[in-house]
This record gives sequence, C-alpha cells and structure tokens, in this order.
Amino acid sequence: MSHSNTPKTLHVATPGSLGPVTPEEASLLEKLDLGRLPRHVAVIMDGNGRWAQKRHLPRIAGHRSGTQSARTTIETCARLKIETLTLYAFSVENWRRPKTEIDFLMALLREYLRKEMPLIQKNNIRMRFLGRMDELPAGVQNDVRDAMEKTAGNKGMVLCVALNYGGRAEIVDAMNAILSERNGHGTSEDKVTEEQLSQHLYTEGLPDPDLLIRTSGEMRVSNFLLWQIAYAEIFVTETLWPDFNRARLLESLLEFQKRERRYGGIREGEPSDEKPARAAGH
Ligand code: FPP
Repeated sequence: MSHSNTPKTLHVATPGSLGPVTPEEASLLEKLDLGRLPRHVAVIMDGNGRWAQKRHLPRIAGHRSGTQSARTTIETCARLKIETLTLYAFSVENWRRPKTEIDFLMALLREYLRKEMPLIQKNNIRMRFLGRMDELPAGVQNDVRDAMEKTAGNKGMVLCVALNYGGRAEIVDAMNAILSERNGHGTSEDKVTEEQLSQHLYTEGLPDPDLLIRTSGEMRVSNFLLWQIAYAEIFVTETLWPDFNRARLLESLLEFQKRERRYGGIREGEPSDEKPARAAGH
C-alpha cells in the first residue's frame, strides 16, 4: 500500500494551470505547495437535499446543482495534476430513497456522462466506476462501459465514480474473487494477505486516498472506501455540496498540507534511540 512522505504528485502543476482565478482563489493558491498535493482525493458529496430545502426547491434541484460542483472539482483536480479523484455518486444504501429520486439521479448521471465527455477528453481524464455495475439499469451500464472505453487511452487524472458502491460489499466481492480464483488450487494453509485483498478491490492499481473530503458537516464515513481510507486525512466542511466551489476545494487541499502524516510511526526527525522495529508502522 502507498505509504510515502515523498512529494505527492508525479507531475507538478503551476499556479497558472487553473487559468483566471478570483482574488480569494489567488490567495489560497499562493499558500498551497503544488508539489505536495494528495495523490488521491476522495469526496463524499453530501447536502444536496438540504441545499434545495433551504431554497424551498425539490431535492432533485439540489442534485442538479451538485453536478456543477462535480464539474468544478473534476476540472480543478485534473489541472492541479492530482493523480486520482473519486466521487461518491450513489451508494448501495441509496436504493432506499424514493423511486422518483433514484430515477432522477440515474438520468442525471447519464446526462452528465454525455454532456461532460468533451471536458473529460480535453483534460485527458480516464474514467473508472467503482461498485456493483451488474445491478444498475441496463442503460446506465451501457453508458458506463462507453465512458470507460472512450477514455481508456487517456493518460491524465483517473476519475472514479463510485456508483452502487458500498465499502463492505467491495471487501466481500474481493474475498469472493480470491476464493473463486483459488477454487481447487489453494490449500487450507493459504492465508489471504493485505496486498492480495487490495489487488482485488474495485480500486486495484490506484493509490489509497490521502485526503477524504465530506461536505455538509456530517462526521461519518458512510461505508465509503472502508479499506482504502485506513490512513487518509479526513476533512469535513459545513459547506453543502452545491456550494462547494474551487475556493472551498483549495481550502481543503491547504488543510491537508497542514496535517502531519505519521502512518502510526513517530514524527520524522523526532529523536529516537532505536530504528523502527518494522518497515511500515500501523
Ligand atoms: C448527497 O446529497 C448526494 C447524492 C446522494 C448524490 C450525489 C450526486 C450528484 C452530485 C450528481 C451527479 C454526480 C456526478 C459524479 C455526475 P443528499 O441528497 O444526501 O443530501 P441531504 O443529506 O442534504 O439530503
């Protein structure tokens, strides 16, 4: 798993990468070290319903407005040369919502994939989807496949959309994949290792998130990337998702840079008489 205190991004953006910025964004950018950004940012986009309610609008208006925040976050992260961005769009628990809201969310996602494809391509973004795709409506499955195929050759940021996603379901799916691979080959001596499990998760090949952002103030992980966020810095903001703009994103990145990451070890440079007992502390 990716534990490293070396510079986070493989390629470093320049302050000009974002194009024209507001005075607020400029002052945040000035404080941000573009060579030390998280490699993987994961976002729980929460608060669309409350945003709409505050404006006496139907909940779906909040979701529609939330797509604008998704667009801004995707484009900004790509331009900052963040390697991976994961957005939690629909959880396995979200099927409990009213059918009209579910249908709207699915239609919104399909519309988004169609309309935003030029922006995705322009920014050289490769798309992945995390979750149980086979349980989604056939039309959504087609669009998902299409988006992955169209962007498969892109070499920029990886954008993961968590769709019909559950962290526990993902771990169960990984274990079952390992069991079916071993079917008839393994012995009772074979133990599953952390590395093997990681390699069978939906996020196979991606670095674990270094930063988890949750909007709308709830202090919960909500079954999101349970395995992968083991060492992530968690940033909870009161901002509702439709109000999460570029300045709020830059603020979250700055907050990440203020945190000290120890991965269960001791601070770098802290006096110690001994060498670490093991290579990676937990
Ligand atoms: C949480 O708000 C948000 C969702 C369940 C859906 C998120 C979806 C989008 C922003 C739209 C499309 C996304 C992409 C990637 C194109 P909530 O309804 O739980 O809000 P509440 O807690 O205030 O009720």
